[in-house]
Amino acid sequence: METRVLPFTDESIAEAARLILAAEPVAVPTETVYGLAADATNAEAVARIYEAKGRPSFNPLIVHVPDLATAERIGHFDATARELAQQYWPGPLTLVLPLKDGADIASIVTAGLTTIGLRVPAHRAIQAVLRATGRPLAAPSANASGSISPTRANHVLKSLGGRIPLIIDGGPTERGIESTIIGATGGPLRLLRTGPIAIEAELASGDRIEAPGQLAGHYAPSKRLRIGAAKAEPDEYLIGFGEIRGDANLSPSGDLVEAAARLFDLLHEADESPRPRIAVAPVPDAGLGAAINDRLRRAAA
Ligand code: TXA
Ligand code: MG
Repeated sequence: METRVLPFTDESIAEAARLILAAEPVAVPTETVYGLAADATNAEAVARIYEAKGRPSFNPLIVHVPDLATAERIGHFDATARELAQQYWPGPLTLVLPLKDGADIASIVTAGLTTIGLRVPAHRAIQAVLRATGRPLAAPSANASGSISPTRANHVLKSLGGRIPLIIDGGPTERGIESTIIGATGGPLRLLRTGPIAIEAELASGDRIEAPGQLAGHYAPSKRLRIGAAKAEPDEYLIGFGEIRGDANLSPSGDLVEAAARLFDLLHEADESPRPRIAVAPVPDAGLGAAINDRLRRAAA
């Protein structure tokens, strides 16, 4: 794939929006670092983020929205969370909140969790892409797994050149480090990641914050799960892959992007089925398969 680098203009934003609506991830500057943005309502688009980054495991991604009103349709804000949002948005603050029932967010975005990380970024380029697409955008840093976060278009090109179709060049990012992350999911606030906002110093004395908080726990089904299963035992719900059909199938054609996109939905389905155990057909360990298998091994442990 040829990676185009285009300066931030109305035309390049229109092209970025076209690609994102066609389920391709695009690198876009934010005020913190360059993000690799995909339509958060489209599971396959989000799976392509993982494919491009070569990330060997799934973790929940931050969803970017244009304003607080849009964020309120996705996450549940209590009074403290709303005050933080009003004070720091748009800006380098991410709030982890309970995910609203019925919010149109693909389960791969939250890696199956019932909470969601939301941020209203300040940078004009990502704001323009948010408005042009009309979609919430999942966007981790736009670098290959294991390399450092990109603060210039050229960093993205070195790391992801040939793996993504487009980089919007908005010059160097202002902040250079990823957003501060605060968990506001009930009880005291939790500092989940330090960042540009020194939040402890800024909070009203009445607000307690626990720092540093635990990072996201991993979603795993509540039932026993067996991996590498060629066929189901009578008490098992079989999640198939390719020719091993199963009760539900990650991807009948053996496509790993499709399999990654369906993984968390099918784990939830299996967990809710009347059968007491879950089995999963073998998934090849190449490319996105490594991330799928990493998650399945943790669920089976
Ligand atoms: O500055 C930034 O935040 C950049 C730019 C591109 O906006 N984005 C970024 O996204 O750093 P990402 O997806 O790489 O950050 C993911 C981190 C996870 O490792 C996790 O710690 C936290 O955000 N996170 C996201 N959703 C979460 C959730 N539901 N519960 C707990 N932590 C969550
Ligand atoms: Mg990163």
